[in-house]
Amino acid sequence: MITLIPETIEDYARAHTVKESDLLQRLVKETYKETDLPEMQVGHLEGAFLRLLVKSIGAKRVLEIGTFTGYSTLVMAEGLPNDGEIITLDINPDTTSIAKKYWTESPHGKKIRSILAPALDSIKNLNGLFDMVFIDADKENYINYFEACLPKVRQGGLIVADNVLWSGKVLNPKEKSDIAITEFNKHLINDRRVEAVMLTVRDGLMLAYKL
Ligand SMILES: C[S@@+](CC[C@H](N)C(=O)[O-])C[C@H]1O[C@@H](n2cnc3c(N)ncnc32)[C@H](O)[C@@H]1O
Repeated sequence: MITLIPETIEDYARAHTVKESDLLQRLVKETYKETDLPEMQVGHLEGAFLRLLVKSIGAKRVLEIGTFTGYSTLVMAEGLPNDGEIITLDINPDTTSIAKKYWTESPHGKKIRSILAPALDSIKNLNGLFDMVFIDADKENYINYFEACLPKVRQGGLIVADNVLWSGKVLNPKEKSDIAITEFNKHLINDRRVEAVMLTVRDGLMLAYKL
């Protein structure tokens, strides 16, 4: 991932953001040691922002598409009340097993339910409403994820999508994934069912408020 924000500015922002816990720091270390694409992890700044979003909207039920090694899952679980729940979807048992090691070390781990299956299949089988959905999986399915999740989000709830600037490739889309992200961004800004705001946090974060 190409860094869009100058590293010195990122460092300054991180230095003025609530500290990352030792547990999350250890999870980052293991992710860098054991996986091929550790930069997929949301990391300190975006993670702290996601936790604050969960708290700010008083979310009790969150759905995540794309667990990886579980950083974003755990950081959002930390923002939920004791009786809150986060369901997280992935297809990779190896990265999910790294995630589970760290979740069990946290008092917030009991709020997490992981489902290992293609996300579109899992979403179909989920009942009840969510306060927030975090989309962070295969880019070609972003519109499908959005459409499948929107009916399951409460009014005033949020759909948050990661990597919507796609290392800047949205300005000159060539590959399939570049095109998928630009189509997703267009889809959201033209959708009257949501109020969309694109933030230039890390690789771009789309916030869609359900009207
Ligand atoms: C960008 S990573 C998620 C990063 C994670 N949110 C974090 O911050 O650590 C994307 C994840 O999506 C998963 N994924 C890809 N295709 C999927 C699918 N069809 N259904 C569910 N998960 C999928 C991958 O296995 C990968 O772990």
